Amino acid sequence: MANPEVMVADITTLDVDAIVNAANSSLMGGGGVDGAIHRAAGPELLEACRPLGGCPTGEARMTPGFALPAKWVIHAVGPVWRGGKSGEAQLLRSAYRASFRLAREHGVKTIAFPAISTGVYAYPKDAAAAIAVDEMRAHADAFDRIIACCFSEADADGYRRHLEPAAP
Ligand code: AR6
Repeated sequence: MANPEVMVADITTLDVDAIVNAANSSLMGGGGVDGAIHRAAGPELLEACRPLGGCPTGEARMTPGFALPAKWVIHAVGPVWRGGKSGEAQLLRSAYRASFRLAREHGVKTIAFPAISTGVYAYPKDAAAAIAVDEMRAHADAFDRIIACCFSEADADGYRRHLEPAAP
C-alpha cells in the first residue's frame, strides 16, 4: 500500500522500478523532463522509442531505462491545455491510468511521476495536481511507492495541499 509521496528532485536520478516521462505523441524526445530523461538514459532510449510509432494523447508506452537507475521508462502523453473544454481533464487522467496499467502489467512496485502536462503543455498546475493525486490514491493498493516528483518546492506544495486529509 503506497500513500503518494511528494519529492523535489530531478526524476532521472530516482532509483525506482519505473519513472514516467511527460512525452509528446511522436515519442521522439523533446525538451523539459522528456529531454532530461533522454539525455540521462542515453541514445538507446530513442532507438527503443522509434519502432513504437508514436503514442496517442492520453495513452502510454513502455521502454527500458537503459543508463537510468530506473529499470523502465513509461512514456505518457498528456494533453496540451487549450482552455479546458477540449477534454483535457479526461486525457490527463487517462495518461495517468495508462501509466499505472503498464506498470502493473510489468510488475513495477515503485514508480515516480513528473507533473505531466504542466510545463510546455501549460495545464494549470493545481488542477493537474488534483487529478494526479486522485489517480495515485486510486492505485495505491498495487504499489510499494508512488512518488510525485516535482521540480520546485512551489510545485511540491501544490501537491501537498491535495494530499492533506480533508477537513472533518
Ligand atoms: N525532473 C522532474 N520534473 C521535471 C524535470 C526533471 N528533470 N524537468 C522538468 N520537469 P514538461 P509537458 C517538470 O514541459 O508540459 C517536451 O518537449 C516541469 O517543471 O517537461 O507534459 C515533450 O517532448 C513540469 O512541472 O512536460 C513534449 O513535447 C513537468 O516536469 C512536451 O514537452 C512537465 O513539464 C510535454 O509538455
